[in-house]
Amino acid sequence: MGVTPIFFLRLVSVLGLALMLSSRLTVEATARTHRFSVNNHLKRLNKPPMKTIQSPDGDLIDCVHVLHQPAFDHPFLKNHTVQTIPEYHPDGRRLFDASKTKSKPNSQMWHSNGRCPENSVPIRRTKREDIFRATSVKKFGKKKHIRRPTSTSPDMINENGHQHAIAYVEGDKYYGAKATINVWKPKIQQSNEFSLSQIWILGGSFGQDLNSIEGGWQVSPDLYGDNNTRLFTYWTSDAYQATGCYNLLCSGFVQINSDIAMGASISPISGYRGSQYDISILIWKDPKEGHWWMQYGNDYVLGYWPSFLFSYLTDSASMVEWGGEVVNSEVDGQHTTTQMGSGHFPSEGFGKASYFRNVQIVDRFNNLKPPKRISTFTEQSRCYDVKHYSNADWGTYFYYGGPGKNPNCQ
Ligand SMILES: *[C@@H]1O[C@H](CO)[C@@H](O)[C@H](O)[C@H]1NC(C)=O
Ligand SMILES: *[C@@H]1O[C@H](CO)[C@@H](O)[C@H](O)[C@H]1NC(C)=O
Repeated sequence: MGVTPIFFLRLVSVLGLALMLSSRLTVEATARTHRFSVNNHLKRLNKPPMKTIQSPDGDLIDCVHVLHQPAFDHPFLKNHTVQTIPEYHPDGRRLFDASKTKSKPNSQMWHSNGRCPENSVPIRRTKREDIFRATSVKKFGKKKHIRRPTSTSPDMINENGHQHAIAYVEGDKYYGAKATINVWKPKIQQSNEFSLSQIWILGGSFGQDLNSIEGGWQVSPDLYGDNNTRLFTYWTSDAYQATGCYNLLCSGFVQINSDIAMGASISPISGYRGSQYDISILIWKDPKEGHWWMQYGNDYVLGYWPSFLFSYLTDSASMVEWGGEVVNSEVDGQHTTTQMGSGHFPSEGFGKASYFRNVQIVDRFNNLKPPKRISTFTEQSRCYDVKHYSNADWGTYFYYGGPGKNPNCQ
């Protein structure tokens, strides 16, 4: 049986063409699936608004009916009655209507173009390009999986490039925390890095099931598409794996406030040797319902994380941390110049280094108190450092941060 070479050639080219076609079809099908899942994701995140406000910084703020916010997609929240006020407030004053107070100093940029109606909550709209910047639809709005250093193994240096300069307390039961945080605009070298300054309320261990509630400010080009300093929250109940997200980018946090949008830009920002600005964040557990509430400034009770989102935190927190975190992505084996805080070391002090002041915890009697014993931690103090103090005015306070790459940190 003679098979001519020409037949072989033809067979090969037919096979090749079929292969090429099928791979192109696969690419197109993948693109179509991706487009479909991006559209679906956008539909899940962006609820039909009652009103939309364009912010000067480019954000679109959707005023969404309080009962239509993403939280209510959560199966556990199907029959949930929204709590309009916490039962208990650790500042000692009972709030009659937390969502309506008089003095409103910390305004957000979008307020210059309007306000959200009553019964609605402002939600920063997620744009198509926001999702395209994430490595996948599933990862959008989530922190990269990280294993955190603990005081029991403070020698775990530079896990996955996450670096911290923090103050912390542990060894007791904590029912909340408060601090006033200096606001800066740290420089980010690579768009996939971030720099944040926040409070962590932690339960469980740093293994697979860490519970964490976080709030503060951050600069995160990949998440927001710019270098603005933004108010943010985060939560997870499984060590940053399947559950949780930033802001309202998944169902969980129930927002009740119609003035403050999570993820919106904060202004003004402090200047080196210039005017200093700060924000206060209070997170506490309502002893009656068990939900974890968050307050911004003295006037804005933003909402709460329902207790059933968590395992360990349904009882109390076992650790509280305050301070900065950055990602260093090590370009060409070199530490990046991504800044933490003001980008200056604690030794420079007020007006130059970033601070946390009036650092407090909520104790088992639901009272705000300065922590009894505070410790500090940093992986590489020559890149980012932290120094704590106390005085009558500022209670427990600390300076933290640094420039990243410098002659002592390569
Ligand atoms: C919600 O309420 C309905 C009717 O009372 C009930 O059948 C359902 O099981 C409830 N769902 C949840 C998640 O509690
Ligand atoms: C953010 O800042 C970096 C420099 O730190 C700059 O290269 C980048 O273009 C900025 N991104 C935006 C969206 O402004």
